[in-house]
Amino acid sequence: MADSSPESAQNEGSSPATAHTAAQEIPLVGLRGLAAAYQLDFGAAVAFKALSISKYAQIVSSEFSTLTPENEMKWQYIHPVSGSYEWFFGDQLVQFAQSHEMKVRGHTLVWHNQLPRWVSESVTTEDALLKLVTEHVSTIVGHYRGKIAKWDVANEVIDDAQGMRDTLFYRLSGTEFLSTAFRAAHEADADALLYLNDYSVEAINPKSNRLYELCKALLAQGVPLHGVGLQAHWDLDDLPSMSSVRKNIERFAALGLKVDITELDIRMKGAPTPERLRVQAEAYAALVRVVLDTEGSDSITVWGVDDGHSWVPQWMSSYGSALLLDGKYRAKQAYAAVVGELSKQVMACSYFGPGREPVGEIR
Ligand code: XIL
Repeated sequence: MADSSPESAQNEGSSPATAHTAAQEIPLVGLRGLAAAYQLDFGAAVAFKALSISKYAQIVSSEFSTLTPENEMKWQYIHPVSGSYEWFFGDQLVQFAQSHEMKVRGHTLVWHNQLPRWVSESVTTEDALLKLVTEHVSTIVGHYRGKIAKWDVANEVIDDAQGMRDTLFYRLSGTEFLSTAFRAAHEADADALLYLNDYSVEAINPKSNRLYELCKALLAQGVPLHGVGLQAHWDLDDLPSMSSVRKNIERFAALGLKVDITELDIRMKGAPTPERLRVQAEAYAALVRVVLDTEGSDSITVWGVDDGHSWVPQWMSSYGSALLLDGKYRAKQAYAAVVGELSKQVMACSYFGPGREPVGEIR
């Protein structure tokens, strides 16, 4: 089992040396409750393997209201062999979420990465590709019908430099694989909200412009697209402008789409210093503020529970410290800043009644 299991708990057992964040401990207060008062979902990417660590599991359920399987539902793991599906890991995560009243974000149905080799080896025509995409999507969304609130139907389909990303899917079918995948997902679960998910599309820029045009084209064709996921894997030294992020969310929302922050982390190069952690905390809080202020955006997911279970150090050498908790599950300044931001809103809301537009200024 070990070999085939998702690569999820990559840093399990290790405690990266993170400079502790503050002289005194910042208590964990339950982000999910604070967020709920503002009808905001606050989630995390969760690794099945790490759930065997009781502290990790306890934090997942007390801090987060939605769960995204970090790897377990990707093609490589859930459909490793033609015609054969591996449900165990995904089912366990769904069960964990259900038993803790968490929603699940399905991630991800069609992606050029973590795609087993048999797909490109066996599929060489558009017909065969669309047939396979239909089978893959219908089977998985059907299996989880009623249990998964939102699906990242397609991931990272926009190229970084120009046009659509050159993948097997696009080469064989143009954008037809997208309409096929979204239609199959909608047919399999009419209640699930269906998303296009991508990175570096948080602010207004050429790449997000391409995503915007694609969304418009799909909507014009009547494709059941309900939202966009802005991954938000950010570098502390290259943060997008928050006013541009706000305008970007607004333009997608104006198309009638929901806009979710789906994979938030803010990495930094080298050892974290208190000052760098403070700047990171401000960036986290600023994004929370934008999401709370913007119609059409009501969901933030961080890409991992703690710095000991973050994809960053493994994938971007010399970067780390990207999440809200350090490698010992201690709250960082970023956590405190998010709590602070949510608390302001909650105070305003509970004083003046629920709603996303608190009346009056208590800020
Ligand atoms: C990452 C996982 O966190 C890693 O464990 C895995 O090795 C590679 O994938 N964008 C996505 C996510 O949509 O699925 C990726 O997750 C991070 C980038």
